[in-house]
Amino acid sequence: MSNTEINLKSLIGDNTREEFLKLLKSRTPFISHGNTESLKDLMSLPFLYSVESLAACWRDTVDVFNPKIADEISKTSIPPEDALHEYNNGSCILFNDVNRIIPEFDIWNQQIRREIGFSELTYVRNLVYATPAGKGNAPHFDQNFNFVIQLEGTKKWWLAKNNTINNPMTRHVIGQPADHELESYTAKQFPESFPTDCTEYILEPGSILFVPRGVWHMTEAVTDAVSFNFTFTPPTWIDIATTALREKLSHSEKWRESAIIDDKGPHNSEFNKLLNALSADAEHWKSVDFLEITEHQ
Ligand SMILES: [Fe+2]
Repeated sequence: MSNTEINLKSLIGDNTREEFLKLLKSRTPFISHGNTESLKDLMSLPFLYSVESLAACWRDTVDVFNPKIADEISKTSIPPEDALHEYNNGSCILFNDVNRIIPEFDIWNQQIRREIGFSELTYVRNLVYATPAGKGNAPHFDQNFNFVIQLEGTKKWWLAKNNTINNPMTRHVIGQPADHELESYTAKQFPESFPTDCTEYILEPGSILFVPRGVWHMTEAVTDAVSFNFTFTPPTWIDIATTALREKLSHSEKWRESAIIDDKGPHNSEFNKLLNALSADAEHWKSVDFLEITEHQ
């Protein structure tokens, strides 16, 4: 396998990197069709030729979605031959973290990550979804950015702007309980049904759909359909700051002390001393002090 054929350019079509970053930052989806030639290093891989060929070489469990919920929040993990049986009986199945079994994918993943400018702390993975005709995903948004490549069949996607929360740190499925932390920083109520002002996209083999973080989406396969995802979960500035701060503070014996909440409860003089010293130090902090810790390339 070549390690240079799939890069950011392969995924963003006619957009320049700068144009793509504008779309990413403004949470604007885009689709391009007819990329079979530029994606041939991916699409011509023998094990991606069909669901059967992928199941035959898969050495791990496969996720099968509960048809009533049609989302990864309700799934079972079963051997590939059983999953194939479920797929043939009308269930959506997911081959998770395909890059674990094909390490060369990580060369592409990391190259694309660097080209976009996502941190080294980004969680990058590849997923293969097999969806029987008439089935699809329940309406939801994700905390990650997705490039969806249609390998086989036709699938409809509906995307809609998220007017409830920007930059969510966890995903949410309409009609399901919200994550506790997500709810804590979301002032509005989540909608109870998919927004009506949505856009429909029809993916055929060779189509690429960019689904930005937080955008509502739901799907339905027109025919049996197989898609391959490049999924990027970059750290937020919160993650960068807390990761680097932990590293900085770990050099202090005082900060490494086991926290003991004494009789004064939250009014702890030792901890106050540490915080006062930290806030005095914080005045001099620069981004480089943090990014030198998290980024090594
Ligand atoms: Fe999703």
